[in-house]
Amino acid sequence: MVHTQQITNMRKKIIAANWKMNMTIGETESFLEDFRMEIEDVNGVEILIAPPFTSLAKLSELLGGSQKVRLGAQNMYFEAAGAYTGEISAAMLRELFVRYVILGHSERRQIFGESDALINKKVHAALTSELRPILCVGETLAERDAGKEKEVLETQLKGSLAGITAEQMLDTVVAYEPVWAIGTGRNASPEQAQDAHAHVRAVLTSLTNAETADKVRIQYGGSVKPANATVLLGQPDIDGALVGGASMEPRSFAEIVKAAAK
Ligand code: PGA
Repeated sequence: MVHTQQITNMRKKIIAANWKMNMTIGETESFLEDFRMEIEDVNGVEILIAPPFTSLAKLSELLGGSQKVRLGAQNMYFEAAGAYTGEISAAMLRELFVRYVILGHSERRQIFGESDALINKKVHAALTSELRPILCVGETLAERDAGKEKEVLETQLKGSLAGITAEQMLDTVVAYEPVWAIGTGRNASPEQAQDAHAHVRAVLTSLTNAETADKVRIQYGGSVKPANATVLLGQPDIDGALVGGASMEPRSFAEIVKAAAK
């Protein structure tokens, strides 16, 4: 799918840190101090940090309603409250001024057995609570080797986004994360990533309409680092990055943010 420069430019890039099960409160404090200095002069990029739940309150306090760095969560449950030991609700996240929630990360899908149907309930619950979902989709290596990556993306998108209105789609970010590129040091080539992103946008068009799909931001994730960020973020349908490993070091995360600002 070809996009005009004008349409591409309408999508503000979004760079998100996914710290996974890393970073204590103490480490979060020192990260933020250094990171803020690194990005002092950066504008025009939406920056997001998704720490573990235990650091959300501290990070929220340190950010103090900052417009420059926003808060994200890595997961949530779809029910509003009740007997769900170990789970966190959308309202609990909202109370801490969390804006975004990562849903359906491949680690949630693979290690914790999350299905598209469950993720779909979470997406609806997030949107109803005015949290913006970052919906993750992506194929495994076996699926790519079998030439099934497009089919897998379509199934995941249709299942996870079932019943979403066009208006809600505008509040949703999609992250394309090929599973074989996550934490492996092996990223998709810019061409492979662009091809997948264009396909994601085409599926979003079929779920809503072309005008809506053109406005939705699609992040790439999987071994993004300062050395490959510029070329990946330069692709017409890549509107940001979801960064794991390289997001835990202030300078390397800042370099990726700067690559998005170019
Ligand atoms: P990675 O993780 O950057 O360490 O590959 C990305 C992710 O899982 O979101």
